[in-house]
Amino acid sequence: MEVIIKETYEEVSKFAAELIADVIRRKPRAILGLATGSTPLGTYKELIRLHKEEGLDFSRTVTFNLDEYVGLTHDHPQSYHYFMWENLFKHVNINSKNVHIPDGTAKDIPGFCRWYEEQIVKAGGLDIQLLGIGSNGHIAFNEPGSSLGSRTRVKTLDEKTRQDNARFFRNMNEVPKYAITMGIGTIMDARQLILLANGAGKADAIQKTVEGPITAMVPATIVQLHPKATICIDKAAGAKLTKEYPAEPRVLVLS
Ligand code: GLP
Repeated sequence: MEVIIKETYEEVSKFAAELIADVIRRKPRAILGLATGSTPLGTYKELIRLHKEEGLDFSRTVTFNLDEYVGLTHDHPQSYHYFMWENLFKHVNINSKNVHIPDGTAKDIPGFCRWYEEQIVKAGGLDIQLLGIGSNGHIAFNEPGSSLGSRTRVKTLDEKTRQDNARFFRNMNEVPKYAITMGIGTIMDARQLILLANGAGKADAIQKTVEGPITAMVPATIVQLHPKATICIDKAAGAKLTKEYPAEPRVLVLS
């Protein structure tokens, strides 16, 4: 696991976008795992710029999103469907047939979750999974206490997560109580992980994720076991780390 600390959120976003763009350039039919929340917004902005100004081609790219609130329709402004189309998909040349986002309105949720897992496998598995982190250490909607081997399923949201996400809704009552989420096992199967965080509100979660023991009570700590994971954060999110970390990836120079 590589930890990279950038000065600013903009630099974190550029780094993540470049990593994803590199995967797409090397493999036009790349299978991307995508995330929502405020953290990846800068990454999506930069990917849109790379598409518009440098011709980054999404026409064959396949995407799978991490999660979706149960009960929100695709056109609900707080649904992750709406978020992804507004903040990325409608600005690039992606084929809508290649976009996969969990369906929070599915009648048979367990059946849908099995189908979602099968689609990821059928597509060839995730080449890179983008992740944010909750202030309680969750990844996707795998809340503290989630099985570290879990697959796509429905989860009850933590009160802390509902409070954190209440800022996007009119009041607490409107914040959904359940979500469909890729499991921790599903995320760990991706060939590469990039976890982003910015701001002082994530400093505790990042310290535990990078330097703490692996525990289901801080689901992001599982990333320590991934063979190809990068954690890229800004100074504020890294403020509680006790070791030194570089600003650029380590490059091994063999003489
Ligand atoms: C939500 C999402 C996560 C995201 C987290 C942090 O709960 N399900 O995927 O990482 O929020 O969000 P933010 O980036 O807005 O802090």
